[in-house]
Amino acid sequence: MSELKVLRENELQDKVGLFVGTRPGIIKFSPLMRELQKRGKDFFVIHTGQHYSYDMDKIFFDELELPEPKHKFLDVSKSRSHGGQTAKMLAHSEQALLKEKPKIVLVCGDANTNLAGALAARKLHIMVGHVESGLRSDDWRMPEEHNRVMIDHISELLFAPTEDTRKNLIEDNVKGKIFITGNTIVDAVEQNLVIAKRKSKVLENLNLTPKKYFLLTLHREESVDFKENLESILNGIKLVSENYDCKIIFPSHPRTAKTLKYFKLESFISKIKNLEIINPLGYLDFLMLLSSSQLVLTDSGGIQEESCILGVPCVTLRQNTERPETIEIGANYIAGTEPESILKGTETMLNRASDWSNPFGTNASRKIIDIVEDTLSER
Ligand code: UD1
Ligand code: UDP
Repeated sequence: MSELKVLRENELQDKVGLFVGTRPGIIKFSPLMRELQKRGKDFFVIHTGQHYSYDMDKIFFDELELPEPKHKFLDVSKSRSHGGQTAKMLAHSEQALLKEKPKIVLVCGDANTNLAGALAARKLHIMVGHVESGLRSDDWRMPEEHNRVMIDHISELLFAPTEDTRKNLIEDNVKGKIFITGNTIVDAVEQNLVIAKRKSKVLENLNLTPKKYFLLTLHREESVDFKENLESILNGIKLVSENYDCKIIFPSHPRTAKTLKYFKLESFISKIKNLEIINPLGYLDFLMLLSSSQLVLTDSGGIQEESCILGVPCVTLRQNTERPETIEIGANYIAGTEPESILKGTETMLNRASDWSNPFGTNASRKIIDIVEDTLSER
């Protein structure tokens, strides 16, 4: 046949395809995979290969005992542009979906992986469910913001974590059906913190006393790929280290490790008092480290949520957040990237009582899979 291939309703099989490819996506889909396994539902995992280093990818499958991906793309990491990376993942995803023919695919979050997976499915007329739908930073510099908007507009099922995110979807006039389900990160934290407390030796290994150290993470493109922003944030961390006599633990994302080298900032950062740079950690060690820290400074989306769930004050090293719920309840402070405001954010959050309650719901994975099952049975 010469026409472009789409899948017809009667060709589709009663199974669910899950797209993963980045660290946060693997973590946030882990409770969904457990829920599907518990119900004996037919599902398979497609790994786009966007993240590929052991400590950004495989460690999470091993530690969280997740099923091996049925499809994994191996040449994606060679692309060094958003378009190239997304295009490769899109083409491979289409081939995998043509083989599997699932009735529905689920993607989680805003990475290029999820845009590629959702678009491949959409083009084949496979139903798309977007987990963590409706988040908006309104910051058009962010590749994640482009992806969120596009994925939300091509998904039939929109799993919004909160009321705020539901409102964003309505304002955007999306076509799909919106459900408020909470965020699966709450399930991931609940399921793994107990195990982390039993198994992790990270505090002993790093010689840390609970609540006597700060945690730092940095990896956003707009934070670390522009020398002036990265330098400004690091000057803020230096100021914090001069004002507080406690260790600052910095598990460094590979993107950040590379840009620190490229911008010749390694010597500067090595001189910041009490700052300890370590490799990225597995989820159990990271959860242990985060839950026992006095404060976290970060530009990560997932860590803003987790710190809020765990009652750890958060200073966000960005101009905005797509998680305004954390600000509304006092769990998070938007410090931007200027040194003085990073110090002010630290002072403010250390003086604030951590008495907020979790705005991200409970049992999101169960609710999402209930909706998926109901939708498939109605078809
Ligand atoms: C991606 C997501 C971001 C998410 C982050 C989670 C997009 C546009 N960005 O950003 O939303 O917050 O993942 O961590 O999808 N690298 C390695 N090993 C790896 C992965 C990356 O060395 O396993 C290095 C490579 O040099 C790569 C760079 O990090 O070029 C950036 O990786 P990439 O996946 O493009 O973006 P992230 O910054 O990880
Ligand atoms: N994380 C981890 N090890 C680390 C740093 C982070 O397991 O060394 C986890 C963290 O607990 C959270 C997720 O990775 O669940 C966040 O990923 P990241 O900050 O890379 O991406 P974002 O959430 O900003 O998209």
